[in-house]
Amino acid sequence: MALILNGLKVSKDIKNEIREEVEKILARKRRAPHLVAILVGNNGASLAYVNSKIKDCKEVGFRSSLIHFPSTVSEAELLEKIDELNKSKEVDGFIVQLPLPKQMDQEKVIMAIDPRKDVDGFHPENFGKMALEMDTFLPATPFGILTLLERYNIDTQGKHCVIIGRSRIVGRPMSILMGRKDFPGNSTVTLTHSYTPHIEEYTRSADIVITALGDPHFLKADMIKEGAVVIDVGITRVDDDSEKGYHLAGDVDFDDVKDKVSAITPVPGGVGPMTRAMLLKNTILAYKTSVYND
Ligand code: GUN
Repeated sequence: MALILNGLKVSKDIKNEIREEVEKILARKRRAPHLVAILVGNNGASLAYVNSKIKDCKEVGFRSSLIHFPSTVSEAELLEKIDELNKSKEVDGFIVQLPLPKQMDQEKVIMAIDPRKDVDGFHPENFGKMALEMDTFLPATPFGILTLLERYNIDTQGKHCVIIGRSRIVGRPMSILMGRKDFPGNSTVTLTHSYTPHIEEYTRSADIVITALGDPHFLKADMIKEGAVVIDVGITRVDDDSEKGYHLAGDVDFDDVKDKVSAITPVPGGVGPMTRAMLLKNTILAYKTSVYND
């Protein structure tokens, strides 16, 4: 029987730990940590993600603000708002929800964020520090996966870890982190992507498979070896006849692989809630390291 890596439960533990920290901060008559989220446009999934992030802040006692621009907002106006947040003594960290509308230069927008407030860990300075194993904000999804592996004490040392997908948010940073000199880490990493021929030849030799490609039920039992650890980052909205009109599907065919794996993350309730919890962790770290809160 496979071990289910229960991200929902672990994320609740982490949120409880953060709430206790906030209570201590407030008891010292200090202000609460403050996270700001910028959303541009009305993409349904992005709107849902940002609203969940705001709700999470309330749960742990953070202050939170949502800045919602129409999709027609100019890049200059967005950059002006980022500049204002960079300078604000009341804001510890902020995120710009991706993807941005096509008229925006995503790189330019990310580069405009003060790395000390970049709680997504997307700024090149933070990404570089991560790659060099220096202290910094780790991107929330990879950070969440590492924390889940750590709390379930999954052995990663000397293991072959195959990652599917090389996005800047998940696959690429994950490939760096699994190879770092630490626990979890010390894995031998293969980063596969859309140009990798016969991906199954790699996944079949993997001790750990991390899928982040957004292709529902892509990973089947005949693509993995017996006893593999499978981490499913996919959360694709699949239309159905339910009241909501869709359900969330992972990249892994859970029913097909469940009797072959040694451990697996479910969708929903696996990596998703961990990602949300780690954004809170990065925000409290930004608060504690802020020059304004010593
Ligand atoms: N879009 C999808 N995931 C993320 C994330 O973790 N942060 C931001 N800012 N945008 C996203």
